Amino acid sequence: MKTVEFGATGVKVSELCLGTMMFADRCDYAVSEAIVNAALEHGVNFVDTAAMYTAGACEEFLGRILKGKRDRVFLGTKVVKELDRGSILSSLDESLARLQTDYVDLYMIHWPAQGMNVTEVMRALNETVVSGKARYVGCCNYPAWLVAHSNAIAERNGWARLVCNQVAYNLIERGVEVEILPQAIAEKIAITAYRPLAIGLLTGKYSTTTPMPPETRGKTDARVITWLSQHGASVDRFNRFAGERGIHPANLATAWVRSSAAVTCPIVGVSSLRQLEESMRAVEINLTADEYAALSDMFDTEVKEESLQLFPGLKYNFPRLRRNLHLIA
Ligand SMILES: NC(=O)c1ccc[n+]([C@@H]2O[C@H](COP(=O)([O-])OP(=O)(O)OC[C@H]3O[C@@H](n4cnc5c(N)ncnc54)[C@H](OP(=O)(O)O)[C@@H]3O)[C@@H](O)[C@H]2O)c1
Repeated sequence: MKTVEFGATGVKVSELCLGTMMFADRCDYAVSEAIVNAALEHGVNFVDTAAMYTAGACEEFLGRILKGKRDRVFLGTKVVKELDRGSILSSLDESLARLQTDYVDLYMIHWPAQGMNVTEVMRALNETVVSGKARYVGCCNYPAWLVAHSNAIAERNGWARLVCNQVAYNLIERGVEVEILPQAIAEKIAITAYRPLAIGLLTGKYSTTTPMPPETRGKTDARVITWLSQHGASVDRFNRFAGERGIHPANLATAWVRSSAAVTCPIVGVSSLRQLEESMRAVEINLTADEYAALSDMFDTEVKEESLQLFPGLKYNFPRLRRNLHLIA
């Protein structure tokens, strides 16, 4: 597995990050431990967790699993509470206790909150870095303007900047292409892409012609059910596209996310050791420019429609500039 630059930090992380949201959920302790150990053997050195996953049990599993191996991973976790100073600091202390470590490599705001005080958030995040409890700080699910606004405040005060934005990105959820990905290129913000398989929809087990597979997250997840009804024909086409190339659909979907110049690494989420072994092979796939273009156009998303808004007869058509990842030299 190759390593990639983590934004502007100078740190190198593996090109796939291991997501652990299913630990203490669909994965019991033994399976979770086997998944982490196998991922490390494959060269993964970046592990993502959050205080809210299974109400802290996920972090507790990781604390036990990573005993003696802590220095081998770049470990990221997220604030679970409100976004006031006290909550940001105490949430980290509680995570550190569960994770059995003195520091995390990355401490992130999980979601922006209505009415949040950005200066207070950035000051508290800076405190976590100054105290040595976090090496870097970042965010998840921030709109581009909020990343820029937060980092402008940090810069004015000499505080730690947000080094990453963790966002949902897959063939169906494409909103980040409009502002967030170009911003990441321009400002060297690391992008970790969660949900690369659209909660499993892009793994070949869902189609318009077969019943919903039992024992899957999609069976009960409203998003998968909705996306399958909206994009079923495209899902079928995607599965055929993978089959014609002898590629597991899950790996094709992850390879597409990985191919974006703005993405640092996809976050691989699995429910079993077998899925982990299969999903690690995504790094072996290098899409051709034609394959990347074909996949990018396969799902009729709102973002795609917006980008196609070309005006006949107009001398300059600007919409494509919004997706231009190299606009700023
Ligand atoms: N920051 C945030 O707000 C946020 C939000 C969500 C997630 N995340 C992070 O992103 C990670 C990934 O999220 P996600 O689990 O929703 O991602 P995902 O990649 O969209 O879905 C993963 C699911 O796909 C199925 N799958 C995975 N590999 C497969 C394979 N090789 N063959 C067949 N099926 C396969 C499994 O579902 P089945 O059990 O149905 O088989 C698995 O649980 C999480 O662990 C977490 O670390 C962050």
